Amino acid sequence: MNSKRSLFLIGFMGSGKTTYGRLLANALDMPFVDLDEALEQEHGMKVVELFEAWGETRFRREERLMLRSVAGNAPLVVATGGGTACFFDNMDFMNEVGETLYMRTSVRELKSRLLFSKEDRPLLRGKTDAELKQYIAETLEKREVYYLKAQYILDTDNLNAHNLMDSYEAIRAV
Ligand code: S3P
Repeated sequence: MNSKRSLFLIGFMGSGKTTYGRLLANALDMPFVDLDEALEQEHGMKVVELFEAWGETRFRREERLMLRSVAGNAPLVVATGGGTACFFDNMDFMNEVGETLYMRTSVRELKSRLLFSKEDRPLLRGKTDAELKQYIAETLEKREVYYLKAQYILDTDNLNAHNLMDSYEAIRAV
């Protein structure tokens, strides 16, 4: 089951990359790294502050570098940021050095999860409920082109800690 290649979790904000990534790492007995947390630790600031200080362009450059840096410690489970897969050649890079898992989630579910955490996310801050839904729908449509390059897809709308490993093993067995 554990191929001992790194496993990169990709997908929209709120798709559960960090939560399920931690659980998967534990079950697969592999170290876990959250890319946003790695950036926060390295630079001593929260992602919201990094966005403010750098702007998105530099954030994406630093994120790209951090992805390559953490991948150097393979094998491990990596929760990427929601945009990581969609910039530069990051998606091709992850597919080359490891396995990729798209945590696919519906707009409706993303909206209900993100309503309560939007202030921690620079791209969602200050949006009204209607704006949030529209942003998710439009951005997900653009980003799915990248997310769908993942080797595996796990639907998360009905995923929970109890069915995670069965669901993960089922998609790998196909
Ligand atoms: C982003 C997602 C965030 C974080 C940053 C940008 C995005 O990560 O990297 O706010 O572009 O979707 P999460 O997906 O962990 O929220």
